[in-house]
Amino acid sequence: MKTINIAIDGPAGAGKSTIAKMVSKELGYIYVDTGALYRTIALYITENDIADEDIEASLEKAEVSLKFIDGAQRVFLGDRDVSDLIRTPEISMAASRTSAIPAVRAYLFETQQKIARENNILMDGRDIGTVVLPNADVKIFLTASAEERANRRFKELSEKPDCPTYQEILDDIIKRDYQDMHREIAPLKQAEDAVLVDTTELNLEESAAAIVKIINEKIS
Ligand code: DC
Repeated sequence: MKTINIAIDGPAGAGKSTIAKMVSKELGYIYVDTGALYRTIALYITENDIADEDIEASLEKAEVSLKFIDGAQRVFLGDRDVSDLIRTPEISMAASRTSAIPAVRAYLFETQQKIARENNILMDGRDIGTVVLPNADVKIFLTASAEERANRRFKELSEKPDCPTYQEILDDIIKRDYQDMHREIAPLKQAEDAVLVDTTELNLEESAAAIVKIINEKIS
């Protein structure tokens, strides 16, 4: 049976994962966060202090996997659930760097395609519509201004101890955007057949509703 695949790409902090979770719940699809896979590899490389030239050979031993527990995605290194450990600013930056390595992308390519072949999914990332699922049924490119994305992240983090300043968050976002858009392999860019959704002026509910509408129009 052909599965339905929805690709959602866009820069860091555009709200992809929150919005994609809301949309997938409404449609009854599985939500796949591919950034978490890149983050898990970055954690593995950081924890084991692996030099760039040794990364390719080390991937075989990494044992990165993903499971869906009560409908929510969890990522594992071996049998260790690292889903919370990968959410630090250090790992965000390391993931942006290691995701530019061709061997890392090749390693995760098949994992992502297999999930999409076997399930109705909504998958978010940077190269889903352009590289991983070029034949996706619907492609969305979700974005917002860098300032608005920094604003949202700052609000999210402001309750936590050691919260970075707004300016630090904005600088981080601009740097990651640049890295993600300018790498040689699978750079972040809007697929020709993707629909652009700019959420700068939209709240989460409005953003999710806009995407559900686009999907329903395309696949009905
Ligand atoms: O979406 P995120 O912030 O969790 O992603 C972490 C990093 O992984 C991001 O800087 C770019 C990279 N990434 C990628 O290159 N391709 C994807 N499909 C998903 C994420």
